[in-house]
Amino acid sequence: MKSVPPNLPVLAGLAGFEAASVPGLTVDEVVRRLKRFHYSLQQTWQISLARLTSEPLYELKMGLSHHAYLASENVSSLRDRVAEMRHPPLGLDKVPDPALEKFFAEILAAPTSLEWLAGLYGKAFPALLEGVDQHLKNTSPLADAPSVRILHALRADLETITVWGEAALAAVRAEADADALATLADWEAELDAWLAAAGGLDGCATPSETTPEARFSATVFDYAPLRSPQRDERFPDPYNMGVHAEEFLYDEKFADRDKVLIMYYKRIREIDVPEMMATILYEMAISGEKRPWGFYRDLTRQLWDEARHAMMGEVGYRSLGLDWAKLVAVNFTWSKGLAEQLTPQERHAVLWYIEQGLMTKTGKRYEWEVGGASGDPLAELFQDYDWADEVLHARIGRDWYVKDFETVKDAAEYGSACWDKVVSDWEQWKKDGLTEHFNWWPGLYEEACRLRGEEPDPETLAYATSYAETRADLQRISASG
Ligand SMILES: [Fe+2]
Ligand SMILES: [Fe+2]
Ligand SMILES: [Fe+2]
Repeated sequence: MKSVPPNLPVLAGLAGFEAASVPGLTVDEVVRRLKRFHYSLQQTWQISLARLTSEPLYELKMGLSHHAYLASENVSSLRDRVAEMRHPPLGLDKVPDPALEKFFAEILAAPTSLEWLAGLYGKAFPALLEGVDQHLKNTSPLADAPSVRILHALRADLETITVWGEAALAAVRAEADADALATLADWEAELDAWLAAAGGLDGCATPSETTPEARFSATVFDYAPLRSPQRDERFPDPYNMGVHAEEFLYDEKFADRDKVLIMYYKRIREIDVPEMMATILYEMAISGEKRPWGFYRDLTRQLWDEARHAMMGEVGYRSLGLDWAKLVAVNFTWSKGLAEQLTPQERHAVLWYIEQGLMTKTGKRYEWEVGGASGDPLAELFQDYDWADEVLHARIGRDWYVKDFETVKDAAEYGSACWDKVVSDWEQWKKDGLTEHFNWWPGLYEEACRLRGEEPDPETLAYATSYAETRADLQRISASG
């Protein structure tokens, strides 16, 4: 018989015998708590999407994109786990507690960045983290091991979120005046009171008997004004269509190294995709139109990828010592046009229509090849991932958009027709004084040459093709990809 070595680790590493011998939470109690975590995460996901487009500060937009993604991934894990625990029907769409519902309704309707930051990152996420810790403390590490694994992953994400949130809140708080801070303090106490009335986010405490007056959620929340994108001072010319990026990129006479400068612009311009996608997701999620959760999960992943691409552009410029905010004009005409002029379904159709076009010969593979040929390993790496992500998005489009049509051709025709509906008027913006369509290319190129210690090439410097000439061809106007 095989002899047993002493000191073998026991219980597959889950816990020691002492901890594993404590009777922990029952299946019913675990399900009850997980449902509250699920509900709360779904609320944070919705709030992030609702705020993202109209939030002017770029860093906050990126943070919201990331956290909407983390929330949706954990929502998926929790849904799966609840479904494993003898609980059909799942009841995952039920509000677990009216006071908890009010708590999130207050944050959703908070009028300023300072307030929603304070609600989301100062209250909601820390309360969720506390609930998760409590669950991990109370549950059996052996019997409830599958939940423990999911909660550890959630916990790690919540750490990332709350560390960022605390710093972001402190930065915005530091700019606020005394009046704003006084109002904020009153409201923060009300949020605590809503949580107390719910018995805490996890519902484990005895609920308090009193509830505060509704403040921001006293009137019906109006999403419509939040659908229009807003930007901060680093985007002073948001209607600028003065530099035709694609035309430069595909012109053989220009050097790959200079094309990288244009690719980074194309990447940072992808900021308009999360802005636009957030409006699709939020409006579909609240419309009552039934979509499987997988739809929201996949599109939120895509939203986050697009935000990452924008940050790759930002990092790319910085790596070359270029101050993008001063040197390039990143517009919002695409996200603004789609969000203001199309239904969520039509926006989704346009998104797919554009993205499937990125998979052609002159699409993502070409950009990666330019990155490689440029001799800049960072540009090559970023384009490598940009390409991989966009291939994933094409798959997501096939799964959730194309399948509603008889043929791919029908899907493309509808997408194209929706795209044609968007009025994008180069001349009118100029007439209205919204932009001069200033050609920022020579300034960017000269600065890059100065940093390289080289004389600009006269032909490259003279590039002055704007989107005006091709504006009839809407398919090629500022189509973010
Ligand atoms: Fe994409
Ligand atoms: Fe993209
Ligand atoms: Fe991209």
